[in-house]
Amino acid sequence: MKKDKVLVIGAGGQIGVELVAALRVSYGADNVIASDIREEAHPMLKDRGPYVVLDAMNGTAIRELIVKEGITQVYLLAALLSATGEKNPKMAWDINMQSLLQLLDIAVQEKVAKIYWPSSIAVFGPTTPRDNTPQQTIVEPRTVYGVSKYAGELWCQYYHQRWGLDVRSIRYPGLISWKSAPGGGTTDYAVEIYHEALSKGSYNCFLSENTYLPMMYMDDAIRGTIELMEAPAEKMLTRMAYNLSAMSFSPKEIADAIRVHIPEFNISYAPDFRQAIADGWPKSIDDSTAREHWGWKHEFDLARMTADMLKNLSKK
Ligand code: SER
Repeated sequence: MKKDKVLVIGAGGQIGVELVAALRVSYGADNVIASDIREEAHPMLKDRGPYVVLDAMNGTAIRELIVKEGITQVYLLAALLSATGEKNPKMAWDINMQSLLQLLDIAVQEKVAKIYWPSSIAVFGPTTPRDNTPQQTIVEPRTVYGVSKYAGELWCQYYHQRWGLDVRSIRYPGLISWKSAPGGGTTDYAVEIYHEALSKGSYNCFLSENTYLPMMYMDDAIRGTIELMEAPAEKMLTRMAYNLSAMSFSPKEIADAIRVHIPEFNISYAPDFRQAIADGWPKSIDDSTAREHWGWKHEFDLARMTADMLKNLSKK
């Protein structure tokens, strides 16, 4: 077992519940503190290790906890995602930025060894090359979520340069999981579709049939995140967030993949405001930089993910 003491802020979200479980396997349950603004712990976090009610905006409480527990690594996952952010832009900016800036300061002052902060494909915008989007390219996000993620990446890079803070980040594509639900994102359709395929046999998609987006199964995302955090510092040749990719598909293609298991499954399309967000994002991502720097490699493609999602959700 390693001696690190880890704090996960926003642990009750889609990534958090699975990340905490994986971190507890490597670091020991008692050495991973899950925290979230929700009073009631997510069922996957209940009675499986320490849980603290914590507001990501409350710097005083975060600092106290870090000092009291001797925290060496913090994962800051609390955020408003793209679709929710467009409904409340100022709030999205405040939550996404303030929580990060304040944590970066605390980390420098209290000498926290490592910080993880997630970025997103939302940093890219309609002027970015949309096929095989490179690590370094035109970056002009048009959603407040994307603006906050890109600004955050620049702040992470700045804190690394200026104060030597070891802060690491990934630009996640849409994440697909069965253990935990997404909330407020444009890529959420790719999770909802599996639930409704099983419960109703049909799905009305809020994106049009040929909208391609980069996607990843949660198992890959969690493994990639921990591999990034455990890679030697000299492999982090960029301190902007790493492009990470696994697959790219459209609503029509995921429906076809579901039909391999549920032949009568039916999909219809009713694009809403999220279509414009998706239309400004990459269709696929070039993640060769992460592959070269620290050995990233995905395992799940659409067919394998679909089989796993349907198998696990039907058991549930
Ligand atoms: N899944 C996110 C969203 O759709 C993208 O990072 O907002």
